[in-house]
Amino acid sequence: MKGTVLYDVKDNVAVLTVDNPPVNPLSDGVRTGLYECVTKAEEDDSIKGIVVTGNGRAFIAGADISEFGGNVEGISLNEVFNKLEHCSKPVVAAINGIALGGGLETALCCNYRIAANTAFVGLPEVNLGLLPGGGGTQRLPRLAGPSEALKMMLTGGHIPAKKALDMGIVDSISENVVEDSIKFAIEKAESSEQHPKVRDLNEKMIEARGNDKILLEAQAMAAKGRKGQFAPGQIIKCVEAAINLDDFDEGLKKEGELFLECLLHPQREAMIHIFFGERAASKISDVPKDTPVKEIKKAGIIGSGTMGGGIAMCFANAGIPVHIIDQDEENLKRGVSVIEKNYDFMVGKGRLTSEQKDAVFGLVTSSLEYEDISDCDIVIEAVYENLELKHEIFKTLDSVVKPEAILASNTSGLDIDSIAAVTKRPELVVGTHFFSPANIMRLLEVVRGEVTSDETLATVMAVGKKLKKAAVVSLNAPGFIGNRMLFGYTAQANMLLLEGALPHQIDQALESFGLNMGPFRMMDLVGLDLGWRARKLSGKESPLHAKIGDELCEQNRYGQKNGAGYYNYTEGSRAPNAAPENEELYERISQENGFTRREISDEEIVDRCILALINEGANILSEGVAQRAVDIDVVYINGYGFPIWRGGPMHHANAMGLDVVVEKLNKYKELTGNDVYKPSELLVSLAENNLKMGDAPAKADRKEKLGFEMSSVANNF
Ligand SMILES: NC(=O)c1ccc[n+]([C@@H]2O[C@H](COP(=O)([O-])OP(=O)(O)OC[C@H]3O[C@@H](n4cnc5c(N)ncnc54)[C@H](O)[C@@H]3O)[C@@H](O)[C@H]2O)c1
Repeated sequence: MKGTVLYDVKDNVAVLTVDNPPVNPLSDGVRTGLYECVTKAEEDDSIKGIVVTGNGRAFIAGADISEFGGNVEGISLNEVFNKLEHCSKPVVAAINGIALGGGLETALCCNYRIAANTAFVGLPEVNLGLLPGGGGTQRLPRLAGPSEALKMMLTGGHIPAKKALDMGIVDSISENVVEDSIKFAIEKAESSEQHPKVRDLNEKMIEARGNDKILLEAQAMAAKGRKGQFAPGQIIKCVEAAINLDDFDEGLKKEGELFLECLLHPQREAMIHIFFGERAASKISDVPKDTPVKEIKKAGIIGSGTMGGGIAMCFANAGIPVHIIDQDEENLKRGVSVIEKNYDFMVGKGRLTSEQKDAVFGLVTSSLEYEDISDCDIVIEAVYENLELKHEIFKTLDSVVKPEAILASNTSGLDIDSIAAVTKRPELVVGTHFFSPANIMRLLEVVRGEVTSDETLATVMAVGKKLKKAAVVSLNAPGFIGNRMLFGYTAQANMLLLEGALPHQIDQALESFGLNMGPFRMMDLVGLDLGWRARKLSGKESPLHAKIGDELCEQNRYGQKNGAGYYNYTEGSRAPNAAPENEELYERISQENGFTRREISDEEIVDRCILALINEGANILSEGVAQRAVDIDVVYINGYGFPIWRGGPMHHANAMGLDVVVEKLNKYKELTGNDVYKPSELLVSLAENNLKMGDAPAKADRKEKLGFEMSSVANNF
């Protein structure tokens, strides 16, 4: 059995300490231990009360996720909760650290709750496609009120102790939580008061009856923040039951039924896949676990533009001093003032106090002098996307920055090996591909050059963790992982437009599938003119898929930046309005290129765009550019708005069945003649053997990596 509960007696109070390092999840040993220890304390006449607490930094971090999906052994959580709630002696939860999910539910079954100043509580089950199924949906609303409880359960956020006190979730906060809880238990045992049970507190439920606004607001919140997800609606139904059913146990029964539906739902599997996937992605299969990690005390950033500023904020937010260099005084001033404005905005929203802003913004310094970054432990370059310029900068950095420092480039797709080769420390050079806005987007692609050292990689992965990023390693190949996949996907969206579908139909079909933003809205946001200008400069003809976009640019339609692209935009708004005036142009370009426009179904749109992602993902995996399929999923969910509840494109393919995927690819290869649908060899062989995509093949079995010399491909990223 995993985990245990220590039994100790102090001043006639039984102190039950959950011991299941590092964060005390409710594994079978903990459940059995709690059940047996409460029984023992109840049977011992010398024991006056019980205190439940956790060993180390956590109270109880939640259920043991590794038990999900399998047969749960031993005593069930509900039996433990029943035992606690109906105990004849007063039970105090001494919440010494994080109390999440089943951990907070344990505390809610105690008569009293005292939290350490530094503790956090929360019911984050929604993040795993679940609802709090241990009575949380019935008990939390009774303490915090249904409105606040719904907010907490739908966001899955962590609530600090002080706020939990204001919300009525805990009774008090303390600096010596276990000692104070023991004293409190004695006091309560000696008083003649009834010990309150959360299940009996019906006041807030009765007050909420007939108030439709509470549930409507929750539904609106779920529709906005958790589009397409199944669990939020189930949580709302549970709270509705808590409000309307007179009998607490009936509410619990309802919660149990709705929980089971979540547990069996494919979204639950998809979301847990990502939960574990993000943890797996942080490990590099061929870098030993005990690889030393350099200490990063100060960071330098070159370039104070969109990315440089955002990356600087990430370091400052993590408490790491950061110095920004730019060549242009105006740009530098503007860049630093954008950072300050971002922090001011957070103060305005109440997310930071002005003292906190001063402290964090105080970590950001800037100048025009490279000497000022000589003592940095890592320097990230974020200047214009131009290889010669990056070569120049890396030569300068190599001569100015201390020799043991890591030099990183934020390039979106240039060859890291070529950049590393201009320095005398290529093993310390790495790609750190942040996504825009860098201070908000969680994805970080860490690009591993041919000679990047294990220590450099391990350090950058540790930095990613410190900056609270979902860091994923990619080998150095054109487009890395995400942009390489995006290329085929947007090209197919454009081909569908050329064949007869309209931008809003394509966007709607993919948004209904679950993507945050359809491809045409995205292209309008990025700007249609970037590729067009690059092609013009190099004198290249537009490839078929770019013909319409380039023609729109010829007509001065660049996207959101000038109010017109595939859509029209009114000033100051990002909302897309249909642009019927473009349709004549679509008709003409289709005809000129030999296409007879046809009706295209939403199913074909989704299939073709998503299959393009999956097939390229499989190629990336077969080359070992991504270490494992789930890394690709983590990239797509955190950087490209793929719905988390589908588990990412690779999980989606595995769930569909790879035989079905290959069959569909063949069908579209036949229909379009496009190589994008030529099934990846990896997919074919896995499908034949009834297997799923997992780890990249062993080194000897990998396909040759896509090279940067294939410039026709590389130039498209
Ligand atoms: N913008 C994005 O969405 C995005 C996303 C991921 C990666 N990237 C990559 O990040 C890098 C920067 O992109 P950006 O959008 O922030 O660019 P940007 O144009 O907003 O900013 C570039 C900054 O670099 C400065 N600069 C130019 N040459 C310099 C030099 N020699 N020394 C010091 N400073 C110099 C410029 O003055 C400017 O302030 C590019 O490689 C880009 O491909 C961009």
